[in-house]
Amino acid sequence: MGRRPLVAGNWKMHTTIQEARKLAEAVVKAGADVIDRDIMIAPPFTALSAVFEIVRGSPSVRLAAQNICWAEKGAFTGEISPVMLKDAGCSMAIIGHSERRHVFGEDDAMINKRVLGAFEFELVPVFCIGETLDEREAGKTMEILENQMRSGLAGVTADQAQTVVVAYEPVWAIGTGKTATVEQAQEVHAFLRGLLVSMFEKNIATQIRILYGGSVNPENVDALMSQEDVDGALVGGASLKAESFDRIIHFQ
Ligand code: PGA
Repeated sequence: MGRRPLVAGNWKMHTTIQEARKLAEAVVKAGADVIDRDIMIAPPFTALSAVFEIVRGSPSVRLAAQNICWAEKGAFTGEISPVMLKDAGCSMAIIGHSERRHVFGEDDAMINKRVLGAFEFELVPVFCIGETLDEREAGKTMEILENQMRSGLAGVTADQAQTVVVAYEPVWAIGTGKTATVEQAQEVHAFLRGLLVSMFEKNIATQIRILYGGSVNPENVDALMSQEDVDGALVGGASLKAESFDRIIHFQ
């Protein structure tokens, strides 16, 4: 439906400033010939400004934070405000990543506040959801995803929804080398698209990009991207290697 693919690299807690610069230079170079898709990279907070100096001239590469606070400023030790992130060059922010949910205990209510905060300051949320292996095996995948989606996007207006990016990342596939099959990915993505139709209008839901994440690599990206409702990839491990990410960016 004319959705522009988005290939996003989540660098997690990797790279010193110097390493980040080098990797960002490689991504800009890899993206130089790209016209029909967007690229996003999310370095650690400490490297954002340095990386922005490298990507700012690139027509295809956008800078993202790995998380975002909802407040402009104040007593929020350890958090980074949307204003600060924009100041550092970010136009997007990953929110609700499974590691935030499961390692740091962020719940749906907090994730919703972050989503609304990002919108308030005109940053695009890359809103992540995903089921655990236990939940999948118990046949609860769609129920869990629906809850996460409805609570995470509560209060989002139709206008805002047009720009949101949703990332489906099955927890059991993140960093495990275990990718969802293309059928599993498409099944969930189609379900999520239907859910978005019921939450917003159809013409809005069909514009929302739904990324797949979880052990995406140069070998599986083409098949995943061939699916109707897979509009891009959120890539962890393979985004840290310039060569792999280059290949993923150039999925066919
Ligand atoms: P992975 O991570 O590609 O290393 O599985 C994906 C993510 O957590 O966003």
